[in-house]
Amino acid sequence: MKKILVAPSILSADFSNLGEDIKMIGDAGADWVHIDVMDGHFVPNITIGPVVVKSVRKVTDLFFDVHLMIKEPEKYWKEFQKAGADLITFHNEIEADKKRLIKDIKNAAIKAGISIKPKTPVSEIKELLPHLDLVLIMTVEPGFGGQSFMPDMLPKITELRKTIDENKLDCLIEVDGGINAQTGLQCINAGADVLVSGNYIFSSPNAKQAIDLIRNCK
Ligand code: DX5
Ligand code: ZN
Repeated sequence: MKKILVAPSILSADFSNLGEDIKMIGDAGADWVHIDVMDGHFVPNITIGPVVVKSVRKVTDLFFDVHLMIKEPEKYWKEFQKAGADLITFHNEIEADKKRLIKDIKNAAIKAGISIKPKTPVSEIKELLPHLDLVLIMTVEPGFGGQSFMPDMLPKITELRKTIDENKLDCLIEVDGGINAQTGLQCINAGADVLVSGNYIFSSPNAKQAIDLIRNCK
């Protein structure tokens, strides 16, 4: 049985206590730290920039999974890489030379991912799959934590799993939005490798138990 990776989203952390919250999820067994970057253009919210990533890089060795919900990732990804990102995921819905961007990110010796919003079909990224380390399937409209999981996204996970396996590609499937023990199990059954979860983990009185429930739910 493959190990499911859990990536708590620090969007739901206590920002007055961010370093401690990140250490806490590390102690609770988190595999990655999911960092949601929003620019007020691609999504109607503004969150974290490279200075914050650089600061929290000092408190943990955990893998930094940076999710760029921004209009111009080609302008800013490098700052996040310098700040300590291990993986940069940008959105398919932006206007840029995506193949080029993936290549540039990978040339900086970090991993590259692409994310699709709920209305974007898997077919739109098929051509890019051989170049990608990860695909992030959004199961809520990006912009805010604490929203409800959209179950009609599950067939997209199944379809992507099938394509990756049939073509023997080395690409992880990450799912983001409304993940808890129940919805996490649905995603695992559909073929997910990495589960992002913000509200469920940070609102739990026991983060270790919440992470274990997400991971061991099969
Ligand atoms: C939404 C973000 C997600 C989200 C996850 O735009 O990309 O990472 O905050 O949080 P929950 O688990 O609360 O939906
Ligand atoms: Zn995210």
